Order: sequence, then C-alpha cells, then structure tokens
Amino acid sequence: MRVAGDAPVTVRRLSAPHDLRAELAADVAAGMRATPKQIPSRYFYDAAGSALFEEITRLPEYYLTRAETEILGDRATEIMELVAPCELIELGSGSSTKTRLLIEAMHQVGGRRYVPIDISEAALREAATALCGDYPWLEVEGLIGDYHTDLRRLRRRGRRLVAFLGSTIGNYPPGPRRELLGEIAAALDDHDAFLLGVDLVKNVPTMVAAYDDAAGVTARFTKNVLDVINRELDADFPTDEFTHVPRWNGEQSRMEAWLRADRDMTVRIRALDMVVTLEAGEEIHTEVSCKFTREGITAELDAVGLGVCAWYTDRAGRFGLLVARPV
Ligand code: TRP
Repeated sequence: MRVAGDAPVTVRRLSAPHDLRAELAADVAAGMRATPKQIPSRYFYDAAGSALFEEITRLPEYYLTRAETEILGDRATEIMELVAPCELIELGSGSSTKTRLLIEAMHQVGGRRYVPIDISEAALREAATALCGDYPWLEVEGLIGDYHTDLRRLRRRGRRLVAFLGSTIGNYPPGPRRELLGEIAAALDDHDAFLLGVDLVKNVPTMVAAYDDAAGVTARFTKNVLDVINRELDADFPTDEFTHVPRWNGEQSRMEAWLRADRDMTVRIRALDMVVTLEAGEEIHTEVSCKFTREGITAELDAVGLGVCAWYTDRAGRFGLLVARPV
C-alpha cells in the first residue's frame, strides 16, 4: 500500500480524447472499399484483444517476448549504466512486465521516474498502480495519448531513455515507420537515448509458426477484430466463417496476417449504412510485422539522425535490442 509522502502516481490525458469509434468507422468504410480489403491492426486491442495478446506472449511458438526478456535480464544494468537516465519513457507500455527489469536497473543509477504513454487508459491505470505498489520510490506519470503526435510535447525533466519494445516498430510499414522514428529522434537531446526492440529475419518456418500457433490463440486474436467491428459499428461479420492466414512476404521482409472468407458472404455494417460482399476465398489484409537485420535498422535510424551505440541479441540470435543516440 502507498502511504502519504510517497512519490505520486498520476495519469493524465496529453491531447484531446480520440473518438476511437469515429476513427474506426472512417477506417472500415475506406478499408472495405479498398482492393484488397483491409482493416488497420490498431483496432485489435480492445479488452478481449489485449487479453488474447497477453496469451500470445506466453505461447511456445511466440519466441519474441521471451527472447527480448532474456536480453533485458542480461543487459538492463549495462544499458542503464551506459545511459544513466533520470526518466524512462515507454511507448505503448502494455502490461509493463519487461519494463520492470529496466525500472529496477534504472533505480541503481539514480533514476526514479517512469512515463508510460498509451492510448488505453485502463491499461495505463492498471500498470501504474501495480508498479507503484511494488516500487515505493518510483514516480509514475502515465500519459494517455498518441505517441506519434504527443512525444514532442512532453516536459523535459532531465536525461531521457525512450523505450519502444516488443518489435512494435515492425507493425509500421516503411513510410509511417520513418515518420515515427523521426518524431522520436526530435524528442531526444544530445545525451538522451532510444532503446528499441526488433525481431530479426530468420528461417521462415520459425517466423510463420510465431503467427500460427497450434492452440489457435493467434487466430482468435485476429478474428476478434471482426467482433470489434460487429459490436462498435453494428455489423454482422460471421467471425467463425473466416480463417486466419499468416503469410511470409520475403520481398518486403515481413509477416502478414490475413482473414479469409470461407464462403461467399454479404455483410451489413449498419452504422455505415454499408453492405459488403466477399467471395469465398477472398482475403482481408490486417497486420504487417516487419522483420529486421542489424544493417537495415541501423540505416533507418541513421536516416533520422540516430546512431546505434549498443547492439544485443538473445543467445539464439532471434531478436535484437539496440541503444541509439542523436549524432
Ligand atoms: N507486435 C506484435 C508482432 O508483430 C503483434 C502481434 C503478435 C500480431 N501476433 C500477432 C499482430 C498476430 C497480428 C497478428 O509480433
């Protein structure tokens, strides 16, 4: 329990509340008219989707989370000694499990502020409360907002370490990715640093299995986005008559997740006053998860003025974690 006099926990909104439903409506209206049809992956993460993603991180096939946790377990102290930040800012903080390794190591070098930024207020409050209970010295300022646009508006408190873990950067195609990396670079001063987790290119079966687990959790996760649309936009996608199709795209070095209609169907989206037809076998594009090489991501960071000053992988060489600084 937290008692009076302890460091405060605050959760506040950085920008005007997003009307997520209006954005979903606009994106679905455009996506259902596109060829191929598409649904942006950010809508995967409602309460049910977030719980399914947590389950994915524990699947035997989904090596990403375990590999990154292994690196952080081995290297968090070294990273914190290198950067010596007064605050850790985390983009898309989720359940903050891996973050604990960083927070504990930061404490050893005198840092005591943690600033998670997320669009999910519920996730932020839950993580902030749990962390403050476990680390009485920690000052947590949760920011509800969109890290693409809000990062520049953060008040500077001292040396920063901005962390973006889990290879979430891979969910951005090259154009938007460059833009986001540019925003991050713009938020860094000379002695600040950026900590980035990237999944690495490896043999195709290993990558495909990570998005096609035997227990079918990933299939439930991707199909959940149809339930989100059914609920929020009063639609009638027959969720059970779609098949999750993971595919490796070697040309673009990325995993793709598609939803394939098992039969001809006519779907009503009442909130959009829209009728959508799908042919048997037609696929809706949902997610990309780009896979990186050390050279490739180093060049991308270079292009926005960040130089890689430390590079680590897990022992099996599946996942990369790097520290970069303004040059
Ligand atoms: N950031 C995760 C990744 O790219 C998200 C994710 C995991 C995901 N499994 C998925 C997205 C399946 C779509 C489909 O690995």
